[in-house]
Amino acid sequence: KEQMIDKAIQVLDRNFQDGGFTIPSKGLYPFQWKWDSGFIALGFAHYDISKAKKEVETILDAQWENGFIPHIVFHNDSDTYFPGPNFHKSNLHPLASKKYRSTGMTQPPVFGFILERLYEIAKNKEDMMNFIKKQIDKVYENHVYFYENRDLNNDGLVYIYHNWESGTDNSPLWDDIWETMNPPEYTFERRDTSHVDASQRPSKREYDHYLHIIEIAKEHNYDDAKIAELSPFLVLDPLFNSVLIRSNESLIRLYESIGNNEEKVDYLKQNQLKSVQSLNSKLFHKDLGAYVHFDLRNNRQIPYICSSSFAPLYSSAPTRLIAESLAKTMLEKFGDAGRYLCASFDPTHEKFNPKKYWRGPVWINMNWILYHGLKRHGFYDLASRIKSDSLELIEKNGFFEYFDSRQSNPDADSNGYGGNNFSWTAALLIDFLK
Ligand code: DGY
Repeated sequence: KEQMIDKAIQVLDRNFQDGGFTIPSKGLYPFQWKWDSGFIALGFAHYDISKAKKEVETILDAQWENGFIPHIVFHNDSDTYFPGPNFHKSNLHPLASKKYRSTGMTQPPVFGFILERLYEIAKNKEDMMNFIKKQIDKVYENHVYFYENRDLNNDGLVYIYHNWESGTDNSPLWDDIWETMNPPEYTFERRDTSHVDASQRPSKREYDHYLHIIEIAKEHNYDDAKIAELSPFLVLDPLFNSVLIRSNESLIRLYESIGNNEEKVDYLKQNQLKSVQSLNSKLFHKDLGAYVHFDLRNNRQIPYICSSSFAPLYSSAPTRLIAESLAKTMLEKFGDAGRYLCASFDPTHEKFNPKKYWRGPVWINMNWILYHGLKRHGFYDLASRIKSDSLELIEKNGFFEYFDSRQSNPDADSNGYGGNNFSWTAALLIDFLK
């Protein structure tokens, strides 16, 4: 155990950069990513609280004047990643950060629960509370941004306009949306496939779709209203929305213990209520026994089960009945003997691919969310299985980006895929073991 923690610390310390932020993986991801940085901070917090604070401070410092927090902050130049700093032109948006270059997309709003978890971990509570007092309004403003700009039906559910905003980049979920689009064949030089075997990454044609959505946003200076009107990709994601709900809960608790923030607490509580109701009424699919995504542009549910389908367990949203049905679906479809929990896509579905990025492999950050979610709703056996599967995968294979869920893998010697020495894998191993 101590040895694994030492190795994880080495990974994190090597990925920590002079500018006070941490890259997810050398070469493959050479900048700061939004949700990565939240999980990474949890790892640091167990052994170097100043780095944990620095990590959170740098990402939140890149916030735009409208509360938006971008999914990648380009602190540095690097030609090992595409699409890099000069592609996005997010400064076309009048309220974009004047200090940093960034993308004009976001990622799941994890910082509410990250701040609360940092408080739990910190030994010096007073010092951490002072830090939280300095940062919390930025996180609050980020939630206000979502509710004021991305809640199209005023029902508490916020949309994402790009698959890169979901965090589950190339999930088979999006295939049905790609079929409604016909983007040009762009000419560009991929960099990811020079670091990682192409069979583990999205296809060229998928990248055409990804770039096309960004081109539309760029054409309209990343204006939210225009994006909502024109983006061919406009989705309600159960992971994104339940992370927002979970972070609301944390912000409410933290503001209440800080005191004198009634208006903010009221605002969060009102939206929280709507979000929870709509998540259950619009995104829970009874027959599948899981939450699903909703394609707002084409006005239809996307009826596939993936690891995001269980993420609401991490929040207060699921009723007892829904929670039971989620645990049952996870066990029956994702949890048969011979399989590590939790595959990122339904292993019983023909589109499942055990090696390809978000089309099947196990991801440690999702396992961390599901572990805490299952525990919260009283499913202790499944929770401890998810945790021990995560630790076994890392111990046997190394600190990889994602893992094959098949316990005996006929295709490779190792179950580890994607980038190696991957920061959130290391950070969350530390959080699991401490
Ligand atoms: C990538 O380039 O694959 C990243 O995950 C995008 O955020």
